[in-house]
Parts: sequence; C-alpha cells; structure tokens
Amino acid sequence: MTEEINLPKNANKEEIYKALLPQVKALLSGEEDLVANMANMSAVLKEAFGFFWVGFYIIKKGELVLGPFQGPVACTRIQKGKGVCGKAWETGETQLVPDVNAFPGHIACSAASQSEIVVPVSKGKEIIAVLDIDSDQLNAFDAVDRKYLEEMVGWF
Ligand code: SME
Repeated sequence: MTEEINLPKNANKEEIYKALLPQVKALLSGEEDLVANMANMSAVLKEAFGFFWVGFYIIKKGELVLGPFQGPVACTRIQKGKGVCGKAWETGETQLVPDVNAFPGHIACSAASQSEIVVPVSKGKEIIAVLDIDSDQLNAFDAVDRKYLEEMVGWF
C-alpha cells in the first residue's frame, strides 16, 4: 500500500488541516502502536506545514521523555511543570506561545525556535504525552492550529 499525503495547492492553513484530517485518520486506523502513530503524525505535520520541529514527549516514570519527532535534535527529558511542555502536562491545557523568549521557563532546545504550541495527549482521562510544535517564526500558531491539533491527538 502506498502511504502518501495529498496536500491542496494554494490553500490556507485551515483548508490544509481540513484536507489532512481524513488522511491522518486513515493513516492511524488499524494501527494501535503509539510510537508508530506518533511518528507518522509528526511526519505529516512537518510535510504539510514545514514547521521547524514537530514531535512528541511521552510520560515515562514521572517525566516527559523525547518520543518520535521530525526536526533537529532536541532535549530528551523535561520535568513536570518545566518549560512549555511541562506546563501543558501540569495544566492539561494546550499552551500557545507566540514568543518563546517571553515565556518564563521556556526550554530552548534550539535558539532558532521563536513560537510554540504544545497540546496534551490523553487516553481516557489520563495525559500520556504532549505534542510539541516549534516554529522559527514569531506568532506562528493560533486557535486554528489548536482546534485541529487537539482533534488529531484525540485519535491515539
Ligand atoms: N521548548 C520546549 C522544549 C522542547 S523543544 O522545543 C523540542 C519547552 O519549553 O518545553
């Protein structure tokens, strides 16, 4: 089976997300392995939007541990409450950070990162991971990203 993602041409961000949703759902359907699904979701988001860094941190033994990602090498472990990722885990809420330099405690895995969104991933009521996306542009994320990314991570 060929696995490829079709992206609409000359589309805005919301149109791209709308086109991606059924394709990501199909990609994940029938596969229960979390790492495999996180790897493909990272690849889709990187390919569709060209984000600087897209990946997952998975909760293991009380800390966030680097999981599947696309982009430059990154910090491997993050404590609860630390950085944008640790805050998303602690609060259970998506963190939208228009300027990472203005976020107290932001963990700079790369100096190129300028803005960030981190979405908690839950199974039932329990948070099991976070999806972290970094941009090398300020203000790259908004409510549209939040809406569609929250929907996608709901499929794990
Ligand atoms: N900036 C994140 C750390 C992870 S890297 O961006 C990949 C944070 O503050 O939690």
